[in-house]
Amino acid sequence: MEVISSTQEMQQKALALKRHGRTISCVPTMGFLHEGHLSLIRAARTSADILVVTIFVNPAQFGPTEDLSSYPRDLKHDLAICEKEGVDVVFTPGTADIYPEGYSTYIEETDLSKGLCGATRPGHFRGVTTVVAKLFNIVQPDSAFFGRKDYQQLCVIKKMVKDLNIPIRIIGCPIVREDDGLAMSSRNKNLNPDERKEALCLRRALLRAEELVGAGEKDAAVIRESMVNIIEKEPSARIDYIEIRDGETLELVDRVEEGTLIALAVFIGKTRLIDNILI
Ligand code: PAF
Repeated sequence: MEVISSTQEMQQKALALKRHGRTISCVPTMGFLHEGHLSLIRAARTSADILVVTIFVNPAQFGPTEDLSSYPRDLKHDLAICEKEGVDVVFTPGTADIYPEGYSTYIEETDLSKGLCGATRPGHFRGVTTVVAKLFNIVQPDSAFFGRKDYQQLCVIKKMVKDLNIPIRIIGCPIVREDDGLAMSSRNKNLNPDERKEALCLRRALLRAEELVGAGEKDAAVIRESMVNIIEKEPSARIDYIEIRDGETLELVDRVEEGTLIALAVFIGKTRLIDNILI
C-alpha cells in the first residue's frame, strides 16, 4: 500500500494508471475510519483495479463555531485498517496541499444544498463540493463511494457531478449501525457514556416514524411530532432539525409516501449527530 500526501504525486500516479488502462475507485473520507467506511472500502474494492482512500479533514466544510479542532483523528489506526482491507493507495494531503495560500475557487450547488444540514450549517456543502471536486481531479476515479447516512451530501455530490459533466459514477452505500442501532459516525467517539445511551433516541425516533407509516399514518406533521416527543425526553438532546422531504428533490412534503426521506440532526451534548430513513 502506498501513502501519498503530495497532490501532484497523487495526480501523476492516477493519470499514469489511467494511461495504462487501469480503472480507479475512490472512497473520500475524513479519517477515523469505522465499519461504515469499511463497507464503502469493501464495495469500492471490487469495482475497479485500483482503490484509493482519501483521508482529509476538510476545514472548508466546518463553520467557525463547529468541531473542526475536536474532530477525531487517528492516522496510524486508519492506515492499518486500509492496509488490512487491501487498499492500494491512501491519499493524505495536508491543509496547505489542498488550500495553498491564495486559494480562491469554490464550487457551490445551489438547490439541494439549501435545506436540512445546509440550513443549519451555512457554507458546509460549499466546502464539501469544493473538496470533493478537487479530490476527483487529483485522484481521477471512475467511481466514488459515499454513505447514505449523509443522505443530503450524497444528493448534492450526485447533482454536482451531473451539472458539471464529471465522468464519475457516484455510488451510495447503506447506513451501517452499531448493534444497538446507533448509526456509525466518527463523532460517536466524542459521546460520554450517558450521552452514548441518549444518542439512541435518533434511531428510536426513526423507528417510531417507520412504525406509524407502517400503520397507515401519512400526515408528515403527525409523524414529525411523534419524533420530537421521543427526542425531547432525553436531557442532553437538542433538536437541530427533524424534516420530512421528498427523497429525490429534497423538497418538504406534507404526506409521507414511498420515496419520502425522514431525516434528523440532533445535538447530544456538544456532539451533532445525523440519521435518516427512506420510506
Ligand atoms: O463524508 C465525509 O467524510 C466528507 O464530507 C467528505 C465527503 C470526505 C468530504 O470532506
